[in-house]
Amino acid sequence: MNNHRLYELSKPVVFAHRGAKNYAPENTLASFQKALEMGAQALELDITLTKDDEVVVIHDDTVDRTTDGKGAVNDLELAEIKKLDAGSWFSNDYWGERIPTLKEVLDLVQGKALINIEIKNAKERNRVLVQKAANLVREKRQQESIIFSSFYRENVRMVRKELPNCPVGFLTLPGFIGKIEIGLLGGVSPDLIHPHFSSLSAHFIERQHAHLRRVHSYTINDADLMRTLVRWGVDGFFCDDLLIAQQVLSSISY
Ligand code: G3P
Ligand code: CA
Repeated sequence: MNNHRLYELSKPVVFAHRGAKNYAPENTLASFQKALEMGAQALELDITLTKDDEVVVIHDDTVDRTTDGKGAVNDLELAEIKKLDAGSWFSNDYWGERIPTLKEVLDLVQGKALINIEIKNAKERNRVLVQKAANLVREKRQQESIIFSSFYRENVRMVRKELPNCPVGFLTLPGFIGKIEIGLLGGVSPDLIHPHFSSLSAHFIERQHAHLRRVHSYTINDADLMRTLVRWGVDGFFCDDLLIAQQVLSSISY
């Protein structure tokens, strides 16, 4: 696992959250292409399953917010999803953009950047989701440039078994629930921890490092917060605006 791309990138690793989220419609090919053009070395995306078991890239449980359609992603077939416009809600410049499949994103990126695939909750079909995603990553031979994460412990466990060479992160919620999740990390033994920024402190990061776990925090768009987290030794963070992150990091002397 040590020759994985994650361990070759300079820290902190900036993950372009859902692609270039502030510049193009999130989780679309246009968004990932834009992030690559802006110099992203790492991308983040979210996956779930269609009704006919295809792995698609979308954040929400439904298509309502980010397309001109309605309904739960898990209840729509890929052919129905592919008819939806996933760009106009963001800007007319992106009219006709589609919800991509994971395969389409892997074909676009082709190892040019690290990808964090966040496995969402496809409920009783999570096993199928994890297996399909793992098969695709194997088929495309991109194990060394992909990491996984999930808020769902079972997804973390399943993907570690499927792809032992891909680092896997456990996402934790803000507040009290997040604290409980962090206290129970032993049962999951993730390689990485992806906490909400409000759970972080220099001491927390130090403790995770003592367990040889990298800390990638979400979602950081504020320059002062970035500077603080970098000072505390964060290993990476998810960001909607690559320009802000690039400006902050270039102004910090290490
Ligand atoms: O992976 C970090 C972040 O994406 C987790 O939250 O809700 O944006 O998927 P969310
Ligand atoms: Ca996500």
